Amino acid sequence: MSVWAVIVAAGRGERLGLDRPKAFANLNGRPLLAESLERLESSEWVDSIVVASPPDWEEPVILLAEELGCGKVVSVVPGGETRPESVRAGIAEVAEDAAVALVHDAARPVLGEDIIDRVMTALNEGWDGVVPALPVSDTVKRVRGEEVLETIERSDLVVAQTPQAFVASLLRTALGADVAGATDCAALVEAAAGRVRVVEGDRRLMKVTEPADLELVANWL
Ligand code: CTP
Ligand code: MG
Repeated sequence: MSVWAVIVAAGRGERLGLDRPKAFANLNGRPLLAESLERLESSEWVDSIVVASPPDWEEPVILLAEELGCGKVVSVVPGGETRPESVRAGIAEVAEDAAVALVHDAARPVLGEDIIDRVMTALNEGWDGVVPALPVSDTVKRVRGEEVLETIERSDLVVAQTPQAFVASLLRTALGADVAGATDCAALVEAAAGRVRVVEGDRRLMKVTEPADLELVANWL
């Protein structure tokens, strides 16, 4: 069974506000992307890796993968304007006969082997997709402008993270639909009537979004 990891790293990182894409933000002296690359390379589950790179940054991504000795990286392609378009560009490089696509945000550098284990083991139990997720701990309200409309029951809400694992052929089909507005891959598979399961996520899988997040994750490396 072949497992292909797709790292989506093509975002501009506007909220981080650096002079370079977020994938190349400095994290303990290395580009942010180095963490996900190295951790997927050393994962026992992963056979091959595709990177959706910031457009015009394919060369630096290839050099980084070489420097880190990431022999599983088989393709580096420019990503798209939106995350699902980048996933689509990455999946296009995945072998036709791949069994599993494991999609991961480069913006979540603290990727443990235990999480990969968790999503892969659940997928192998027969689900179409598996998503690591955390319970919502704050009270959630629906608002319109400044006005609170209602408070939402949070006991059945979770916050989704990556890596997300899918039966590769199902994700490929789901990506054929209109992907606008899909904020994660699971949403596409759900919309295609796929059965998606959640497993326990990890706080350390936090997505680096704002500058202060870099310091937080640097402590967890
Ligand atoms: N991503 C991508 N292609 C895009 C947009 C996002 O591959 N066109 C990736 C990012 O590189 C990141 C993940 O999707 O690993 C989550 O996106 P986000 O945190 O929003 O990153 P950015 O879009 O880079 O940040 P911002 O929204 O602040 O510009
Ligand atoms: Mg974004």
